[in-house]
Amino acid sequence: MYSKEEQRHLFDLSKKLLAAAGPADFTAAAANAAELRQTITYHEWRYYALNDPVVSDFEYDMLYKKLQAIEAQFPELVTPNSPTQRVSSDLTEDFAQVEHLTPMLSLDNSYDAEDLKDFDERIKNYLGLPAELDIEYCVEPKFDGGTIALVYENDQLVRAATRGNGAIGDEITPNIRTMRSVPLKAGFSEMGIAKAELRGEAIIRKDIFLKLNEQRAADDQILFANPRNAATGGLRTKDPSETASRRIEAFVYQLGYAIDANEDNALPKLETHDNTIELLGKLGFKIPLHATPAGSGGERKVCKNIAEVAAFCVEWQAKRDSYAYEIDGMVVKVNDLQLQQRVGSTAHHPRWAIAFKFKAKQATTKLLHVDFQVGKIGSITPVAKLEPVQLAGVTVSSVSLHNEDFIKNKDIRLGDTVLVERAGDVIPYIVKPMEELRDGSEQEIHFPTHCPVCHTPLVRAEDEAAWRCENPDCEAQILQRMIHHVSKHAMDIDGFGESQIERFYRLGWLHSLADIYRLDYDKIAQLEGFGERSATNLKNAIEKAKQNPIRRLLHSLSIHHLGIKASKILAAEIGNVMELKDWDEERFTRIKDIGPVLTHNVIRFFQNEKNVALLLEMESLGVNMQQTEEDRPKAISADAPLAGKTILFTGSLAKMGRKEAQAKAEAAGAKNISAVSGNLNYLVVGEDAGSKLKKAQALGTVTILTEDEFLELVGG
Ligand code: IVH
Repeated sequence: MYSKEEQRHLFDLSKKLLAAAGPADFTAAAANAAELRQTITYHEWRYYALNDPVVSDFEYDMLYKKLQAIEAQFPELVTPNSPTQRVSSDLTEDFAQVEHLTPMLSLDNSYDAEDLKDFDERIKNYLGLPAELDIEYCVEPKFDGGTIALVYENDQLVRAATRGNGAIGDEITPNIRTMRSVPLKAGFSEMGIAKAELRGEAIIRKDIFLKLNEQRAADDQILFANPRNAATGGLRTKDPSETASRRIEAFVYQLGYAIDANEDNALPKLETHDNTIELLGKLGFKIPLHATPAGSGGERKVCKNIAEVAAFCVEWQAKRDSYAYEIDGMVVKVNDLQLQQRVGSTAHHPRWAIAFKFKAKQATTKLLHVDFQVGKIGSITPVAKLEPVQLAGVTVSSVSLHNEDFIKNKDIRLGDTVLVERAGDVIPYIVKPMEELRDGSEQEIHFPTHCPVCHTPLVRAEDEAAWRCENPDCEAQILQRMIHHVSKHAMDIDGFGESQIERFYRLGWLHSLADIYRLDYDKIAQLEGFGERSATNLKNAIEKAKQNPIRRLLHSLSIHHLGIKASKILAAEIGNVMELKDWDEERFTRIKDIGPVLTHNVIRFFQNEKNVALLLEMESLGVNMQQTEEDRPKAISADAPLAGKTILFTGSLAKMGRKEAQAKAEAAGAKNISAVSGNLNYLVVGEDAGSKLKKAQALGTVTILTEDEFLELVGG
C-alpha cells in the first residue's frame, strides 16, 4: 500500500508537522491541511489495518487536532475524505459485515485540567447555561482494548460486532459468545426494552496477559506486544476456541440504542449515564465499579463539577499501573441523559463526552549502542543504550535486549529508531525497530564471542537462550555474586546493597564472598558518607546474617537454577551444607521437585575445590552451615485438621490477610490451590465472594466455610 520511501517520507513529515507552528495564511493552511490529511491517513492505516503504529497515540492526536483547527478556521478546506469526516476503519474481508443500529462515534481528547475546563465551557455555551453553573459528570476508565457492540433482542444476545468504520463492523458473534463476562441472556424485557445495542470494550487483564505470553514463550510462539493487541487479535480469529483461550473480558460502558417494548425509540426512565451503567451491572454485565462517596476505591465516579472531574482523572493517572487492566485515560460524560441529547454529536464524536488521555507510554528514540553485561552465573545480557526519551513521566535511556534471539527475531540494529513502550508496571522494552525509517547506515549487532570482562570464549547450551562465560573466577561474575549474596532474597543483609558492594570492591576490600565477613568496620567508619553509626549498623546486620537458616545461604551461592524454592527443599534434607559435597546423583533424585539439571549444577559446584574452600572459610568466619529450626520441614501429622485436603480462599477476609489465612491452612495440613474444581475440598468465603462461590455451589462437592468456621476448624 505504501512503499518504504513513502513511509519514511510520511514519518519525517509527521515529525515536521508536529514541530511546526500554525499556518500564517490561507495558502499555507491549504498546503498544511493536505499534508496533515496524508500523514493522518497513513497513521490510521498503520494503527487500524496493520495493528502496528509508528507514532505514539499522543502524536497522532496532535496531528488530528492541528487538522481540526485548520478546518475550523477555513471550512472551505474540508474535503469529503478528510480523516475528520469519518471514523477510522478496521474492516477486513474475513468476516460478514453488519450495520450498527446507531453509528459508533469516536471521542474527542483532552490532556489536562485546562482542556477539561474548555470542554465544560463549550457545553454550557451550547446549552445557554451560565458559566458559574455546575454540570454533573460521570467519569470512568478509558479501557485500552478492542471496541465491541452487542445486540440483544428479546433478552438474547443475537449479534456481536467490532466497531469497524463506525457505521459497519465485522460480525464476531461466535467469538464473543465464548467470553464469560458477556451474558448470553439478560433481562432487558423486564425494563421494557425489546431490543438494545450495548457498546463496550474487550480487554485482557494484565496478569492474564503476562501468563499468556509466558505460555507462548514456552510454546515458541511470537509474543503479543501488549494486552490490546492480544485482545483485538483474539476477537477477530476464525477459531472461537482461540478467543476463549485468551480469557478476554468485556466491560460495557454505554447503552447505544434501545427500543421500548411498546413505544419506538423511547429510552426507559434511566435519567443518568450512571444509572444506565448501574442497570447494566444489575443485568449481569461487567461494568466499571463505583468509587466510594469518599472518592476512593472504585474507578467510576459521579463528579459534581469539572474541577472534581479533573482531580479524579489526575488521581487515576497516578494509579493507573495498579489497576488490573490497561487504561489509556478516563472518559468524562455528561451524566444527565437529557442534557446529552440537547448538546448532541458531531459526525466524529459526541459533544457530551471527552477522553482525558494519560501521558504517552510509547515513544520512539535512537538506539545508540549495546552494552554486554555479565551476570552472576556468567549469562551475557545485551543492554541497549538509547537517546534519552520521556515515557509516562520517566526518562528511559537503557533497556534490556534479553538475549541474542530477541535481537535476531526483532531484527534490531545499531542506529535504528526503535519504538519503546512501558506497559503498566512492566519495565520499559523495545517493541520493534522502525524498519521504514532505515537509511542504510544501521549496523548489525554482533554478539561477542568472548566474555567482555575476562575474555573467556562464551558458550551457549542447546536448550538455553543465554550465552555464558563459564569462568567461575571472572571478575564480573564475582562482583555480581557478591551483590546477589547480600540481597533481600538471599542473605538479606540490611543496608548492604549494590552500591556499597561496588565501592568496597573498588577499594580492594572484597575479592570473594568470604571477605564480606571480614570487613574492617573501623575503616568503613572513616569512609565519606559512613561514620560510626552506619558502620555499626552494617556490622550488626552482617553478624545477624551469619545466623541465617541454610536455605538462605544455599540460595546466596549463585548456583544456576538453585532458586528460593529449590534451596528450601534442599535445606530440609541436610543437617549441614557440607553434606552436599558427598551427595551423588542418585541421592538427589530421591527428592521430589529436584530435577537433573539442578542436580548436575549442585554436584559441579561442590566438585570445585575452590568452592568447598570458600564455604569452609565462611564457616570459620562464623557463617552458619547447620540446618536450623527454620530449615526443617514442618511435620504435619496425619491427624492435622486439614491433612491432605485442598483449600481456597475467596472474597475479602475480615480477621486476617489472605497470606496469613493460607499459612494457617498450610500449617493445618492443607494445600492451597487457585481454582474451583472437582479437586477442591474447602472454599472459605469472605465478604463479596463472587464467581468462585457460585461455581463451588454448582459443583456441590465443595465444603463451603465462613471465615469463623475456618478458624474454628484449624483451632484459632
Ligand atoms: S464512550 C459515544 N467510554 O475509546 C461515545 N469509550 O475514542 C463512545 N473506550 O473506541 C465512546 N473506554 O471503544 C467510551 N468508558 C469508555 C471507553 C470508551 C474505552 C474506547 C471506545 C472507542 C474509543 C473512543
